[in-house]
Amino acid sequence: MIILGIETSCDETGIAVLVDGAVRSNIISSQIDLHAPFGGVVPEIAGRTHVMTVTPAIEQSLAEAGVGPRDLDAVAVTVGPGLVGALIVGVAAAKAMAATLDIPLIGVNHLEGHIEASFLEDPSVQPPVVALIVSGGHTMIAVMPEHGRFEILGQTIDDAVGEAFDKVARFLGLGFPGGPVIDRLAASGDASAYRFPRALLGEPNYDFSMSGLKTAVIRWVRERQNLEDSFDPADLAASFQEAIVDVLVTKTIRAARDLGIDTVVLAGGVAANSRLRARMRAAGEESGIRVVVPSIALCTDNGAMIAAAGARRFERGDRASWDIGANPALSLG
Ligand code: KG4
Ligand code: ZN
Repeated sequence: MIILGIETSCDETGIAVLVDGAVRSNIISSQIDLHAPFGGVVPEIAGRTHVMTVTPAIEQSLAEAGVGPRDLDAVAVTVGPGLVGALIVGVAAAKAMAATLDIPLIGVNHLEGHIEASFLEDPSVQPPVVALIVSGGHTMIAVMPEHGRFEILGQTIDDAVGEAFDKVARFLGLGFPGGPVIDRLAASGDASAYRFPRALLGEPNYDFSMSGLKTAVIRWVRERQNLEDSFDPADLAASFQEAIVDVLVTKTIRAARDLGIDTVVLAGGVAANSRLRARMRAAGEESGIRVVVPSIALCTDNGAMIAAAGARRFERGDRASWDIGANPALSLG
């Protein structure tokens, strides 16, 4: 079974070829440099750039995998959630390929793709799993009792966690995207230097709130500046990051315990965060829960995760109709 995965929901053109479940190529054409001067992703630029990068990335992905278009059994594409002008580029490319080659077209939910990335590297990982999905647009805990079935246990009531990283980094003038910069800066800081709020930590639910933390950090910095008081940016980054990681780890492990599920998977761009990866692994060891942490290239947006989710759908006989469109607000499950 040879499947092409196309991902264009945000600022990465991700194209991959999967052969019998193994990743043969996983091409990322990143737009970060184009969006960085604006301090965030500009939807108009994202859509236009995908138009230019999608075809060369498909060609490169096929070449690297050593397969021709006629070898493909199916084409899988992200249909949502994401930026509509970015999504439609991938959907149009996938439709054109599937129609020309007369092979099935499979529509994939971006969040389902992030979760499926956790099954790509180790076949011993099996459902049921509790998934922590943390990205620029989403922060949620979901259960996947079997492939293709999802139940959302809780999610952010305001900002996504990646958004909090990006906004705090922008305020501090650290650049875009903020997550990786704060991660690197925090590595040399003291996470217990400053104490920031851990919203909803003790609440008996699986929801999150990130905007209060972001505001607290910004207010704290302004107060220091007004007092002409110096502070160590590395300590600040580490303390901010620790507040986020504390809540994510505690609530995810609690969800797995409450449901009696012994596997937790980390998904989404923020799953690339080194502190989250380390703390989640340690918490898993402490509580006898297996924690699956995909390699970083499979955490941030990529085509392999879409091909993986598409292959599962293909096995289940799921086919998209030709009039399928982009759905920017598509929900999981
Ligand atoms: O999943 P993703 O690649 O795109 C979306 O679907 O949103 O996630 C992008 C987000 C950005 O907010 C970025 O700052 C964050 O993931 N991110 C990180 C790290 N690497 C990427 N956040 C914290 N630490 C990182 N190392
Ligand atoms: Zn994503």
